[in-house]
Amino acid sequence: MIRVAIDGPAGVGKSSTAKALARHFRYAYLDTGAMYRASAWWCLHQGIDLDAPSIDEQQVTEAVAEFFTGDHFSIGLDPDAPKVMADGEDISEAIRSSEVSSHVSKVSGIIPVRHLLIAAQRATILGENAADSFSEGRGIVAEGRDITTVVAPDAEVRVLMTAREEVRQARRTGQSAAVSAVGGEDVAARDRADSKVTSFLTAADGVTTVDNSDMDFQQTLDVLVGLVDDAI
Ligand code: C5P
Repeated sequence: MIRVAIDGPAGVGKSSTAKALARHFRYAYLDTGAMYRASAWWCLHQGIDLDAPSIDEQQVTEAVAEFFTGDHFSIGLDPDAPKVMADGEDISEAIRSSEVSSHVSKVSGIIPVRHLLIAAQRATILGENAADSFSEGRGIVAEGRDITTVVAPDAEVRVLMTAREEVRQARRTGQSAAVSAVGGEDVAARDRADSKVTSFLTAADGVTTVDNSDMDFQQTLDVLVGLVDDAI
């Protein structure tokens, strides 16, 4: 069974490419960023102060542990319906809010939180997530920041997607590169915070770098399809 691990910074187009790749091969799809976003959403929802000068890491870890082990959280593995649910509520949209985006690195930077999520992600990639039968007998595409290095370093296909910073900022804001500096989320700040705990700016040994700065969506997808075809 083929496992495809894709890492890269914010705004590089990982999610849309990874989803399309999963559709192409009829594989399952795991958005690990959505799991960190859902954890941050849950903490905010529980009234935990993520703006405090020194965050209560134990409180956050306990809240996230309850979220994952207490059956509050689920994520869909079908690339056509990668729904994120909390206590029966569809939070797929809510976890993309600027409030969650600006707090997520504080949660993902807590090492015991990472251990909880990494364990859950490994179980899902190995098909041990009984709650979702979609992945049964299928390959899987998992994307994030530490999939090629920590979560699934033995994946059959390992890719680091990169693009120049101004290109990524423009993709995130949906504007042209010329005006992107004016508005939109500061992806560079999030990457700086994230790169303190995960290494996604340079490729680890055996990981193929795909710089898509000058590629359109289809060209990027074609490159990834080629890499998976070579591994099958
Ligand atoms: O990929 P996305 O931008 O949705 O990820 C949201 C956040 O989740 C990242 O900024 C990072 O803080 C965290 N993350 C992580 N490790 C991963 C995936 C995401 O720390 N494997």
